Amino acid sequence: MNKKIWILIDRKKIKAFEGETILDIAQREKIDIPTLCYHPKLEKDFDCGICCVEVDGEMQNACCLKVENGMEVLTDSDNVRKLRKKRLSDIFSNHYKECDDCVLKFNCQLLQLVKKYDVKPKAVEKNAAKDKTFQIGPSLIFDRAKCIDCGNCIDVCDKQSIGFLTKDSNDYVTPTDNKNKDCIYCGQCIVHCPVGALEAVGEFEEVELPFKDKDKIVIAQIAPAIRATIGEEFGLINDNLMTNRLSAALRELGFDYVFDVSLAADCLVIEESKDFIERLGDKSNMPLFSSCCPSWVKFIEFYYPDLISHLSNVRPPNIILGGLIKTFWAEKLNISADKIVVVAIMPCISKKYEITHKEYHINGLAPVDYVLTTREISYLLKKNKIDRKKIKARKVR
Ligand code: SF4
Ligand code: SF4
Ligand code: SF4
Ligand code: FES
Repeated sequence: MNKKIWILIDRKKIKAFEGETILDIAQREKIDIPTLCYHPKLEKDFDCGICCVEVDGEMQNACCLKVENGMEVLTDSDNVRKLRKKRLSDIFSNHYKECDDCVLKFNCQLLQLVKKYDVKPKAVEKNAAKDKTFQIGPSLIFDRAKCIDCGNCIDVCDKQSIGFLTKDSNDYVTPTDNKNKDCIYCGQCIVHCPVGALEAVGEFEEVELPFKDKDKIVIAQIAPAIRATIGEEFGLINDNLMTNRLSAALRELGFDYVFDVSLAADCLVIEESKDFIERLGDKSNMPLFSSCCPSWVKFIEFYYPDLISHLSNVRPPNIILGGLIKTFWAEKLNISADKIVVVAIMPCISKKYEITHKEYHINGLAPVDYVLTTREISYLLKKNKIDRKKIKARKVR
């Protein structure tokens, strides 16, 4: 363990260890220092300066500065508040704001800081070279007018060993024009972007339309991974009624039925086991790789095409479930399949890409019509003032 030292934060003596940053200690001691560009797992080559603190009379960034014995740190002095407000104002003025239609609206760190520090944005001239929007496949949107050039997305894309995002000759973030690289829609750049400049291609507005059409039966299917994430959004942790509460909230939103994708995950295990036993018998194309994750499948298809034969032929669970709903279930309830709209609520943007595959169609119909991410569905629930905490649980199918 590194050597123990002592520092003063806001005049309180606090134990620290050599090698730690001021932010490390503040987070451990639950002292509030706001951040924007900081991420514990990413390299830093940019300073937004929002984490500024006063150290022995000088302004420093808490996420970068390593502590030294006897340091005196002020986290909320007049100077700190003034500088933080100025930096926020610069960032917010240069950030394209469309908060009412932004899925981060109810959860936006930048917006919360702007309100807390009472920041009024300045008028800024348009920058045609910078303010471009790129749609990357069916899953990802990059709006450069929102970008603050922190570089987190480039770093995390490199960490996926993809390197699809880079800087152009003006030093602005851009998708690469290298034909040997392609986005696999892993969504990590979205998760690590502090200001919503990278986002999923939004389908929530389109999903609201069939709710109003009495002729349509709108079905939600929920992935196992999303219930905890959405629970957290509504302050519900370890809630054993989470799934059924979510089901009730989705019906309140306008869905007619809610299905659990776990059902199809069981079908997948049975089919994949058969595939595995066959391959084991004739010793062909082993090892067997799952095809459940479309990003993984795209990664293999694009970067390692000689391994394609190792991918399982079994469809992913949400596609299996969509197929079952539009055939078996529709027949049982005597419903015409073309009246059914299936919306998959998924933890990742890659599923938006997956549903564009024509080879999944059954009787000419797509098994899944739309994919909403957890951010999109949370935004819709909050926009419609549906609070899962207050709603009575209802069973899923
Ligand atoms: S990311 Fe930008 S547009 Fe979205 S809510 Fe925050 S400030 Fe508004
Ligand atoms: S989705 Fe993944 S692969 Fe595509 S740009 Fe973002 S981090 Fe890179
Ligand atoms: S897109 Fe987001 S993560 Fe990437 S540089 Fe811009 S602000 Fe940072
Ligand atoms: S959060 Fe520390 S410099 Fe951005």
